[in-house]
Amino acid sequence: MMNDKIEAIKVAVSDQLAASQALQDVQDIRVKYLGKKGELTAMMKELKNLSKEERPKVGQLVNAARNVIEEQVKAKMEELKEQALEQKIQSEKIDITLPGRKPVLGHEHPLHLTRRLMEESFLRMGFSIVEGPDIESDYYNFQCLNLPEDHPARDMQDSMYITDNILLRTHTSGMEARTLQAHKPNEPFKIIAPGKVYRCDYDATHSPVFHQMEGMIVDKNIRFSDLKGILEDFLRDIFGPQTKVRFRASYFPFTEPSAEVDISCVMCGGKGCRVCSHTGWLEILGCGMTNPNVLRMNGYDPNEVSAFAFGMGVERIAMLKYGIDDLRLFYENDMRFLNQF
Ligand code: DAH
Repeated sequence: MMNDKIEAIKVAVSDQLAASQALQDVQDIRVKYLGKKGELTAMMKELKNLSKEERPKVGQLVNAARNVIEEQVKAKMEELKEQALEQKIQSEKIDITLPGRKPVLGHEHPLHLTRRLMEESFLRMGFSIVEGPDIESDYYNFQCLNLPEDHPARDMQDSMYITDNILLRTHTSGMEARTLQAHKPNEPFKIIAPGKVYRCDYDATHSPVFHQMEGMIVDKNIRFSDLKGILEDFLRDIFGPQTKVRFRASYFPFTEPSAEVDISCVMCGGKGCRVCSHTGWLEILGCGMTNPNVLRMNGYDPNEVSAFAFGMGVERIAMLKYGIDDLRLFYENDMRFLNQF
């Protein structure tokens, strides 16, 4: 009788497990047959009603059935867990054939590009780069460049003062004085000083903030021919080997003699056009042999060493190199403009 019952339970469990689709169903089956109040447990308790001979035999059968069911439940659980994992993997599958999202790359600004080309040209000639503060003292911006207070040449630059003695630097030339003072007296050097400068000015060719690059060489026996050679090489490097370069006498308080440098027009090659006002030439920079007063005021002896210096606008170089006719385009960050470089 008990035998039949045990067999019936085994069949029932097999059927029910086969039909189970969730872990909870399997748990329920386990409890129903093997739990404290489960059917097989109940049978164990009934063993005491059997005869002494039957008790161990039936006990063995019940135990064997327990073990079989235990195994089946375990196997079913494994199966369901594996199924669940498989489903999860399928549902989280990444479609690698989908085209990726391209990161939007920024773009080197044409002014930065121009500054970099200028720097690289001078670095190839053995210059090093120095930088200084945008907020400058009247002392470095003017006084130690041979521009004392009330000097009329101060009017060449529309300055923005913060206090009586502090201003936004109007040019990078202050770096000449700063670099001279940073060296031991008469120590030679070759520097360029790129950076922002500020003037009260705003139209198609002037911006209140723009960029300059200063340059200076100090050593024994530096001559005007050195100045000419370096600047001609630089300008042909930037504008091409066909570029003609001309030096015109000019005036700057920090140089003597002083010159302004023109290049043959990048648009017409020198024939004359609207860009060069039909002169064939474009003004590109100021330069000269450093005034002995400047050397002296900054701790150098003009009888021992000589120097030349130059300064130019980065915007102007970029406009001429790339044929840009409005300076304001540089500051508007319009990608249609920037992407062309
Ligand atoms: N500092 C001048 C300016 O901003 C440019 C310049 C002229 C710099 C002659 C120099 C120089 O070093 O020798 O207009």
